[in-house]
Amino acid sequence: MSRFAPVVCIFTVEGRRVLWHGATGRHFLLSPPALAAVEAWTAGPPPGQLRVLVQRMDELALLAESLQPDLAALIPCPSRLVIRVPEPRALWLPVPDQRGPGGYAYRARPLDPVEDALWAACNGARSVAEVAARAGAPLSAALAFFATLTGPEVQALQLRDQPAGPRDPSLRRLVAPERPDAPRPDHLYGSQGQTTLGPYHHDHITDGQTHFDDRETTVAHAFARPHPALGGLPYGARLLDALLDRSLLNEDSGLVVEVGPGTGELAEALLGRALERGRPIHDYLRIDASPALLATQDARLPGTRGLLGEATALPLADHSVGFLLSNEVLADLEAAPEPLARPLIAAHGLHAEPGQALFNVGAWRFVAEIARVLRPGAAAVLTEFGDAHELPSETRYLDHPEVSIHFGQVAAVARAVGLDAQLLPLGELLQADLTARWLARGSHEALRSWSHSRGQRWAARARSPQDADLPAGVTGLDWVPITEDGPGPVLTRFMALVLRQPDGRSAG
Ligand SMILES: C[S@@+](CC[C@H](N)C(=O)[O-])C[C@H]1O[C@@H](n2cnc3c(N)ncnc32)[C@H](O)[C@@H]1O
Repeated sequence: MSRFAPVVCIFTVEGRRVLWHGATGRHFLLSPPALAAVEAWTAGPPPGQLRVLVQRMDELALLAESLQPDLAALIPCPSRLVIRVPEPRALWLPVPDQRGPGGYAYRARPLDPVEDALWAACNGARSVAEVAARAGAPLSAALAFFATLTGPEVQALQLRDQPAGPRDPSLRRLVAPERPDAPRPDHLYGSQGQTTLGPYHHDHITDGQTHFDDRETTVAHAFARPHPALGGLPYGARLLDALLDRSLLNEDSGLVVEVGPGTGELAEALLGRALERGRPIHDYLRIDASPALLATQDARLPGTRGLLGEATALPLADHSVGFLLSNEVLADLEAAPEPLARPLIAAHGLHAEPGQALFNVGAWRFVAEIARVLRPGAAAVLTEFGDAHELPSETRYLDHPEVSIHFGQVAAVARAVGLDAQLLPLGELLQADLTARWLARGSHEALRSWSHSRGQRWAARARSPQDADLPAGVTGLDWVPITEDGPGPVLTRFMALVLRQPDGRSAG
């Protein structure tokens, strides 16, 4: 006889054994040796080391001798990854064994009017019987409907004996294999394993309008529209305020250069805010390696200049720039293994850290270029994901290899080439409210998938519950603090490096 109730199925995910109660959707993960030990225990009270495990399994009605629950008395608790849409009436569910652009692939599960009423009546506190009564449906219809939602291939609902807490993690994740790494074309690496994204930016970015919604999203892109996290301002405007408050940008800054402006939305908001605050910027030069993005910027930013150019070989005269901005570009620049990086490590007096496999040599070259082009007293701000001591590592899910930044080493290079360098969290520079909320990644992906099914686009933007462009009639949207996964990268993963060219006068 099996150790487990007949309704339980057992499978393996990422090396862990999963016991799944098919009728309730409740489940338990354990290591293969722990499962073997439970299976080996045949009679009598469980041995001491299994007691807690067995007690929990019994609570979940997973054991052969467990009392099976009266399903009508249980509480249907919808997964926070599922949304309900009105047209056509359906649930949008993540597909456990498929992965989409942002993590989950989603599919529609059409609802007939009775099912729709049943789902709408689930509030995480009512029992199945109460939900059926409220929806005006027979109990048998409720039980049949919920039975289609609790299996491991669906994972849309759990039937629980207690209401789920608002942050219950088991309702926010799938029991599924980890998302596979995105395939990377060979030509994005050099012969010694260094990243070489030149062809990607020059040739593979073809649509500046959709690139940052569909292929990669930046913090600035996600927050390009006003959001409560940034005091109701868009990213570029909030950044302008920070630059003025910190006297990084001044009336006499003269030539302002942005390297890698993407769609130009950051610049648009920054320039607009500067005008609004009576501090117009007259000479704004954009340098970008992507012809497609330069064209998008040209259309958005009349009155500014654009140049096709390379961050590590800036097409600028020595000491000509009054302020330089480069937002989320460093990770695109070359990262190289130690043999290739060795000459620069030595030149800048750095050392390889234990276990360090990659070095942000492109970022180092860029910083040296910044030292060459900044006027005395002028500043630069560089933002990117990484940390003061984090060993550079390659992203896994993008279609191109970006590498996180070891900001401690970049700051050391900046000092070695004569700049003052200060490192701070990007959230601190922007004075972001980290308690503000945006849509959880799952809800964003569900809305993206539903929109695409209707031939519509769903941009990767930070929205708030008050946002005007939220579709009417959609329920189940999950709002989480911006420190958790959402439509774009998490702000707290990013740092800002503030560089300043010493002013000859004060030095003298
Ligand atoms: C990740 S996007 C960031 C866009 C924008 N700054 C933002 O924050 O949304 C990187 C930008 O830098 C540009 N870029 C990448 N590598 C570059 C390089 N080596 N030289 C100049 N621009 C580069 C890309 O074309 C793109 O505009």
